[in-house]
Amino acid sequence: MNVLIVGGAGYIGAHVVKACLSAGMTVSVFDNLSTGKKVNLFPQVRFIPGDILDTKALDAAMQGQQAVVHLAAKKAVGESMENPEKYAVNNITGTLNVLNAMGKAGVRHIVFSSSAAVYGIPHIPEIDETVPTNPINFYGFTKREIERFLVWYERLRGITFVALRYFNAVGYDAEGDIRGLESHPQNLLPIVMEVANGTRQELSIFGHDYPTPDGTCIRDYVHVTDLAIAHVQALTYLASGKASQILNLGTGKGHSVLDIVRRTETLTKQPIRYVFAPRRHGDPAELRASAAKAKEVLGWQAIHSDLDTIILTTWARYQR
Ligand code: UFG
Repeated sequence: MNVLIVGGAGYIGAHVVKACLSAGMTVSVFDNLSTGKKVNLFPQVRFIPGDILDTKALDAAMQGQQAVVHLAAKKAVGESMENPEKYAVNNITGTLNVLNAMGKAGVRHIVFSSSAAVYGIPHIPEIDETVPTNPINFYGFTKREIERFLVWYERLRGITFVALRYFNAVGYDAEGDIRGLESHPQNLLPIVMEVANGTRQELSIFGHDYPTPDGTCIRDYVHVTDLAIAHVQALTYLASGKASQILNLGTGKGHSVLDIVRRTETLTKQPIRYVFAPRRHGDPAELRASAAKAKEVLGWQAIHSDLDTIILTTWARYQR
């Protein structure tokens, strides 16, 4: 299969590229390297430098492709509330450009990076895909709206899709093939790693008065290698002519912020300095996926997502 991976130089994208190459697919990567890294580009891929706002570049890249994986997006929740225009243009207009180029070139399948952020603050901690979407930040809103566009592009242009709602993506390729580290990370685990390796003084833990056993928030951390495998399964699924799907990707298990801190201290043998800070606006106490549908539809299950594997594969990249 010839697959165009839009955003294939980024953190999740590079892991998806590796999984697609391992499955014997022919991979082209389209990326503007705004956050993606050159060091993440595998020598076996055809690299097409380009921006999803450049429709001509997208038209050219679509030639000869059979499917698209679209991961190119802005993803900082806080920034999306301060600069919604950037998210409207990059995420929504950019994705419409990808879909329009697919329509023109006759590319009929897309795997789309969605997010658990579409759910907002659900009433129950374990979320399946029937839980109503109700994003509470503009980032999540863009992902939810794109899912709706996908439904119409299927009806009108015959493009079938799998939208994958990632929970908390963490970890690194265990073979060390993906080396690019995010600049200015905003997510918990990279920040904990930067404290462990001395790049950062301390971690601020946002809230310790949540109704959870240790008072800190619980999340469903899923290894990026498991996420990558789901993309390969979704591409194979779509190529066999099956119906479009929206699927959660998570483990169903939760870890608190303090669980992550303590286990990282043990495994890295480094002290993690932290302070308790006020709650971060819009953080639910507990979020976990039900991934039963992904198992039923794709046969997918998280097999690399135990906490030790997550921490050790990440530490292997951050250790100085
Ligand atoms: N946290 C801290 N201190 C920090 C950073 C995070 O205490 O410096 C806490 C958060 O409050 C939260 C947990 O660590 O309780 C995880 O926070 P992240 O920012 O790593 O992740 P989120 O759960 O907020 O969101 C992530 C992605 C979103 C995605 C969501 C889906 O950043 O894009 O998972 O579940 F939508």
